[in-house]
Amino acid sequence: ERVIKIGMLGLGTVGTGVYKVLKSQQEEMLPKLGARVELKKILVRNVEKAAAKVDDPSIVTMNFEDIANDPEIEIVVEVMGGKQPAMNYILACLDAGKNVVTANKDLVASEGKKILAAAKRNGKDFLYEASVAGGIPIIRPVKQCLAANHITELMGIFNGTTNFILTKMSQEGMEFGDALRLAQDMGYAEADPTADVEGLDAGRKVAILASAAFNSRVTFEDVYTEGITKITATDIQYAKEMGCTIKLLGVAKDTPEGIEARVHPMLIDSNHPLATVNDSYNAVFLTGDAVQDTMFYGRGAGELPTASAVVGDIFDVVRNILWNCCGRIGCTCYRECPIKRVGE
Ligand code: NAP
Ligand code: HSE
Repeated sequence: ERVIKIGMLGLGTVGTGVYKVLKSQQEEMLPKLGARVELKKILVRNVEKAAAKVDDPSIVTMNFEDIANDPEIEIVVEVMGGKQPAMNYILACLDAGKNVVTANKDLVASEGKKILAAAKRNGKDFLYEASVAGGIPIIRPVKQCLAANHITELMGIFNGTTNFILTKMSQEGMEFGDALRLAQDMGYAEADPTADVEGLDAGRKVAILASAAFNSRVTFEDVYTEGITKITATDIQYAKEMGCTIKLLGVAKDTPEGIEARVHPMLIDSNHPLATVNDSYNAVFLTGDAVQDTMFYGRGAGELPTASAVVGDIFDVVRNILWNCCGRIGCTCYRECPIKRVGE
């Protein structure tokens, strides 16, 4: 039985979800993949807190070298968040010949190009499905299933925390601060929730998805961002009286004049499909010249939905490793790929 060993950086909301999903998949993964995935080491800052979350506390470490220098570890999952040291750790892992999976949109939006170049140089995978819209499959569908399209426009709700806050304010009359605290308790918010409520997190996701959809390079700096901190109970009441709902929307358009990308609160008709996307759910509309309109919907944040996307990426890397695939990002030729990995 082939066992693929992985290391994980972080055991917070997402890391704990990944731990649980891998555990629940132990029986199913063998027939699915032809191998088992074993979590060998987890990097954290607070060992005591982390040890209480796992069956075998000896897998928890405070030393990154325990993962980077372990030749048995073939895949590293970065779910610690922030730019540094996450960036240096990811580059070190790729240079050490490991594949990397991340949920870190902050990093992918700003440094994605550099990291993808490092992955390519080392002939390894760098996958980031969880970085946009949590559990909703969106990066892979755009890059693969919709590859035959010229995508001209995308629009959606890209942040679970703010959608949760707006839902609670609108449907239950909850105060902004109370709703934010609840979103934090549910594990939806970023470590610094300013990124959520000021629209930065949604802006990063729009940049990542627009880059994939328009086959272009859109960075966070290219996206106009405005959050929901100025939305009051009175605004919400007025919107209702007009038959509308306030949502924080992200929009990107590929126009002849260039790419336009923005995130800001918008009034939408209450009968619009996006008006019914509530709580931590996200939804993304995409328009392609062949497929025309498509809509993706699901949980945009939280422990298990995000882990679903991360573990899906881990399984994809496992398939690439097992079937000696070319290892190119997004390649699905697992079984019959005639191209060897770089270096083989
Ligand atoms: P979190 O709950 O704050 O967990 C972060 C984890 O990383 C903690 O275990 C922390 O350890 C560890 N960590 C942080 N800095 C570290 C360092 N310098 N060295 C060692 N360990 C370190 O964060 P999260 O919500 O799981 O989010 C993780 C990543 O996933 C972020 O990039 C976030 O944007 C992304 N994401 C989150 C969600 C979501 O719904 N939460 C959804 C999609 C993507 P200690 O506890 O010991 O400090
Ligand atoms: N803080 C993010 C959100 C997590 O609320 O959408 C998912 O990316």
